Amino acid sequence: MSINVPRGTKDILPEEMFKWHALEELVRDTCRLYQYKEIRTPIFEHTELFTRGVGDTTDIVQKEMYTFTDRGDRSLTLRPEGTASVVRSYVENKLFGLPNQPIKLYYMGPMFRYERQQAGRYRQFVQFGIEAIGSKDPAIDAEVMALAMKVYEKAGLKKVKLVINSLGDTESRQAHRDALIAHFEPHIQEFCSDCQNRLEKNPLRILDCKRDRENPLMTTAPKLPDYLNEESAAYFEKVKHYLEVLKIGYEVDPNLVRGLDYYNHTAFEIMSEGEGFGSITTLAGGGRYNGLVEDLGGPEAPGIGFAMSMERLFLALEAEGKSFDNQESLDMYVVSMGDSAKDKALSFVSELREHNMSVEMDFLDRKVKAQMKSADRLHAKYVVVIGDTELETGKVALKNLSTGAQKEMAFEEIVENVEQLKLSWQEELA
Ligand code: HAM
Repeated sequence: MSINVPRGTKDILPEEMFKWHALEELVRDTCRLYQYKEIRTPIFEHTELFTRGVGDTTDIVQKEMYTFTDRGDRSLTLRPEGTASVVRSYVENKLFGLPNQPIKLYYMGPMFRYERQQAGRYRQFVQFGIEAIGSKDPAIDAEVMALAMKVYEKAGLKKVKLVINSLGDTESRQAHRDALIAHFEPHIQEFCSDCQNRLEKNPLRILDCKRDRENPLMTTAPKLPDYLNEESAAYFEKVKHYLEVLKIGYEVDPNLVRGLDYYNHTAFEIMSEGEGFGSITTLAGGGRYNGLVEDLGGPEAPGIGFAMSMERLFLALEAEGKSFDNQESLDMYVVSMGDSAKDKALSFVSELREHNMSVEMDFLDRKVKAQMKSADRLHAKYVVVIGDTELETGKVALKNLSTGAQKEMAFEEIVENVEQLKLSWQEELA
């Protein structure tokens, strides 16, 4: 019996790797421009980090974590998201003490959630996320959203929209929470058992329930914006103002609540409006989490960030009929005929690689025709054929496979002119 990948996971095969590399480069480059620095935290953490950080009433903690006990009897969990880990690291490594504040970090890596598999929803997926910790300036909220939108723009996506809301500060949230309990309590028997549990623990989560979505009490439920106190409302106005300064279009959705407990003030999601993108339209989500650093044992340090799934970005690109260009083609294929030619091919290939050229040759003792076919399939820019004549004269015909142009050159001449060859290949194409 053959063994397949676990449900909800997939292999990323070499032929699709170029788009991952292209996106990773785009992300790193954007983070460099915005001055976010990479951080890498472990794939697993103490389970308590997520129960405390993400919140023990959230779906993530209640239903979706990959939790296991290690041989030392510790409860560990494969990270379902990145924010809790980054904040733990920020506290543990005392990044709040560094001279340059706020601390601006980014991460890219696999996250794990036990969710029902469907298009765009996996059990292992790659998140790119950023966290800005140590500033409560609403301008940084706008910057964080701007960076997310910039990544989509650079990737070539057109049909994306930014949806924002304010969850308010603790006082506003408490007032809203009380109103929600009063609203749902008399009818809570009509709701699913999860919602019944949520009523006291976290009534905001009821609004997020997929099973009770159609219940009319959902639409008449008290809306967060009506419960924002003056300070929270003013903060939200500032965030919107800075988005306008940055000329970033947005929509306010008073029903936007996020699936994690640590949020307050700004909450946002970026959705795809591409046709055929499927039922899951959220590309990215994020928000402000003032108080999380303190909850995880650090000093007062407000934070904001977002995360996006790389897989969903690719799906959205596909839905818009776009893709990344494959820039990872082969510079040269060296064809050889006979044993002596093979010796020469091996050393020539190795020399060219020393000079930064990506080169391939035959390792299956194939005929010239088959080797030429390989060169074609690998989209080699140049091909040379080494046989007895070439060994004698020390010269080969260098062929540009896209234009068909040929030029006779000595082996050393090719090696010496590697950079020039790469350039002229592009020029001939242009
Ligand atoms: P989240 O909304 O749980 O937030 O996830 C953020 C993004 O991760 C989603 O918008 C989606 O693109 C992707 N995602 C989540 N679950 C899956 C899945 N099962 N399959 C594929 N993609 C998925 C967070 O994770 C927060 N840590 C974001 C954040 C950072 N807030 C502040 N800082």
